[in-house]
Amino acid sequence: MSTTAEQAPGQAGRQEPQQVGVAIVGGGLMGREIAAALARWPALVDHPVRPRLVGVADVNPAALEWFSEIGTVEILTADYRELLADDRVDVVYVAVRHDLHEQIYVDVVEAGKSLLAEKPFGIDGDAARAVLAAVEAHPESFVRCSSEMPYFPGAQMAVRYIESGALGEVVSARCSFLHASDLDRAKPSSWKRVAKFCGEAGVLNDLGMHTWHVPLRLGWRPERVYGVLQDVVTERPGPDGTPVPCDTWDNATIHSWVAQPGAKAFPLTTETRRIDPGQKNTWELEAIGMDGSVRFSTKNPKLVEVFGLLDVPGTGREQVWHHLDAGSQASWPTVTGPNFESGFSDAILQMWAVFLAERAGALGDRFGAVRPEEAALTHEIFRAAVASHEEQRAVAL
Ligand SMILES: NC(=O)c1ccc[n+]([C@@H]2O[C@H](COP(=O)([O-])OP(=O)(O)OC[C@H]3O[C@@H](n4cnc5c(N)ncnc54)[C@H](O)[C@@H]3O)[C@@H](O)[C@H]2O)c1
Repeated sequence: MSTTAEQAPGQAGRQEPQQVGVAIVGGGLMGREIAAALARWPALVDHPVRPRLVGVADVNPAALEWFSEIGTVEILTADYRELLADDRVDVVYVAVRHDLHEQIYVDVVEAGKSLLAEKPFGIDGDAARAVLAAVEAHPESFVRCSSEMPYFPGAQMAVRYIESGALGEVVSARCSFLHASDLDRAKPSSWKRVAKFCGEAGVLNDLGMHTWHVPLRLGWRPERVYGVLQDVVTERPGPDGTPVPCDTWDNATIHSWVAQPGAKAFPLTTETRRIDPGQKNTWELEAIGMDGSVRFSTKNPKLVEVFGLLDVPGTGREQVWHHLDAGSQASWPTVTGPNFESGFSDAILQMWAVFLAERAGALGDRFGAVRPEEAALTHEIFRAAVASHEEQRAVAL
């Protein structure tokens, strides 16, 4: 056996994994996805933690019913506080409406449990700051925020390329998260389309964390921003089919300037769109530099493009976008063959692998999940972008 990915788990010299009880608050779309990811844990090679899904809270009995099929689950409750009072629970993943984040996140942290929060980490800046204050008051509670798209193998390859310094002077960068299901005007409304539940920042609250995780971790903190926002579909069918108002931004582009040491500031653009025809959860990262450039998109999830100059026999030196296949390995090694393909569910598993590894002090130099202060900073960026859009001017942070 030559590579780590090919080594069998349970080899000699390995320490006993730390047992961690996980609970989920909110058994909707994301709650179920996380339960499935935890069930795939044996795919990870030599992970220092062994999580076990022990409890789920949801106010909807039908949502809870789904989890009764999972053998490890011992607590099913309508009241999440029951989970917080239970010694079997060490880590809580919370995936509920944005207006409920602040109260539940603060309760989890004050109970001394670790928290993997969902974006946007509170409905607005005030909520995020309240959570941050609780986190600072409870250092025993390890807190991170969910953002899984950077854990595609190709995204990690692009991040490592940028971290290596291969770009040289940065010319420009872009990170995008693009959807299209809202193109259908007949799509029923939901809490995600109502500002009092989703937040005034609308699509930025829904998709913005995905576009800022990598830039902020790379140290690309914007100095000033210019927001271009659109509310395209202003009403949708309500529960009985009667149109109800949809008062959230559908599409938002943030143009920003980022300072770089020893060179001029460069433009960083983040795009979040619910209405971008042809896109289904497309996450893209592009970084252009004077010495090198890199691109990755989940549209074509094996492909990583790297720019360089090539001596072409018979022609001479030419500009080339090289095409690389990323394979299956992202952050934490898995038993999956290194040449196999990776997808959304793999990225979720990888995010949990790094979250629990960092909690156990074993992250190493891997790309970590979103920190609370980074999550809170995104609300500052969104507030500046909305103000910029309304006042039609660039806004400093
Ligand atoms: N990381 C991602 O890719 C991703 C994708 C989608 C949504 N999200 C985020 O996940 C969160 C939830 O989104 P979703 O799509 O799973 O929502 P959802 O509406 O599918 O599920 C939310 C669940 O929370 C339950 N709930 C409501 N109040 C509750 C309470 N007080 N206690 C316990 N449960 C309660 C609801 O009954 C529902 O089952 C949001 O913050 C959203 O932005 C993240």
